[in-house]
Amino acid sequence: MSVQSILAYADDHHPQFLDELKAFLGIPSISTLPDRAGDVHRAAEWLADHMRSIGLEHVQVVPTAGHPVVLADWLHAPGRPTVLVYGHYDVQPVDPLELWESDPFQPEVRDGNLYARGASDDKGPFFAHLKAIEAYLRTEGALPVNLKIICEGEEEIGSPNLDPLIYARASELAADLALISDTTILGPDQPSIVYGLRGLCYMEVEVTGPDHDLHSGQYGGAIHNPLQVLCEMIASLHDAQGRVTIPGFYDKVRPLSSEERVELARVPFEEDRLRQETGVPKSWGEAGYTIAERIGARPTLEVNGIIGGWTGPGSKTVLPARALAKISMRLVADQDPDEIDRLFTEHIRRIAPDTVRVEIRGLAHGAPALVERDVPAMEAAARAYEAGFGARPVFAREGGSIPVVATFRKALGIPTILLGLGLPDDRFHAPNEKFSLANFYRGIATIIHFHSALAGMPAE
Ligand code: BES
Ligand code: ZN
Repeated sequence: MSVQSILAYADDHHPQFLDELKAFLGIPSISTLPDRAGDVHRAAEWLADHMRSIGLEHVQVVPTAGHPVVLADWLHAPGRPTVLVYGHYDVQPVDPLELWESDPFQPEVRDGNLYARGASDDKGPFFAHLKAIEAYLRTEGALPVNLKIICEGEEEIGSPNLDPLIYARASELAADLALISDTTILGPDQPSIVYGLRGLCYMEVEVTGPDHDLHSGQYGGAIHNPLQVLCEMIASLHDAQGRVTIPGFYDKVRPLSSEERVELARVPFEEDRLRQETGVPKSWGEAGYTIAERIGARPTLEVNGIIGGWTGPGSKTVLPARALAKISMRLVADQDPDEIDRLFTEHIRRIAPDTVRVEIRGLAHGAPALVERDVPAMEAAARAYEAGFGARPVFAREGGSIPVVATFRKALGIPTILLGLGLPDDRFHAPNEKFSLANFYRGIATIIHFHSALAGMPAE
């Protein structure tokens, strides 16, 4: 088997691959919105049909208590490794919709980029795997490795129903390693392999005062304003050094080794780059750590949104009855999301004044993950990137979360290779999300090389 004919097939089919990806992206599979459940299901069925059409076997849409999981396999390479490819077909909400330059669910190519919700997170990168598989099966009639696929529809809400399914089907999913393209590389010509991902603990805090909105002149001064209470509590969650003040929050944080600090400093996340990518006047963060360390290796607390009071045009004098905040914490090894949920809840209860009622609810939770870097598959990934992108990858840590990585280690005992294909400016979760077509096509080639390198095939 030579990779040349397989790569040539992929090269010859770029227009077809693009049209198919556009069809996949056209389905608004937003997992967090109850109204979109039908679309999420439709995306799962679309994927399953597509998997069957390229020659994958045992394709099934498995129902869960939430959105379905799509499974498939191809297991005709006896004696060769088994790769478990994971992806997610669900996407984030699109608002604010008015900031999109084209409809988020009518994919459009502009300047070599494909714009759509889910283009880069994660439909495009996952689809690259299917296209690499198709290229093998259509040219050689075979893959050089055994392959299993698991694609879920709830990653963006913390994969609440995935772990039970993985534990229940552990023997069916058994593999030597997991392969995921749901991260970013450092730049178009600088691939990187992510070995650290943060976890997440997402909470909701609701403060209630009076049983209805009040005239702020009639009652203001004698009643504790729930929005003020909420803002004061939130403001107290960081100290002047940018550290989170919740007692015990840092207890389980694994310190960075000096080698890791040196390595992370090799590809510095510069102040300038941060300003350029985000438009902020200046960076901010925990004292004593570099930007790369703050994002990749330190836990944080973020206010995602605050709801309450009058926010319409003009002025309305009101003392609102309730206020709500959505607060999430990014976690690092070895913090446990359930323990952080408990510490957060206890702390908010402790600092809440007795002038209001406070309710605290836990939402999405996901564990952090650190992947071993000395497994043979890492070398296959490095060689594959080198062939696909023309440069040797560096190791990096990322601030985002993919809860299943920790589960694969715990439930199946396998490492995960994070073969990211996105770029830092792909606008994950934001308006005008895009996927670089160059990365799509190079990604397909990289995946083709990965399977061949893993199988021990000669490089050329
Ligand atoms: N693809 C992202 C994870 C990611 C983001 C990796 C940025 C690297 C850089 C994934 O789809 C995602 O957004 N995950 C959620 C998980 C959460 C709900 C548990 C996240 O990180 O917010
Ligand atoms: Zn995402």
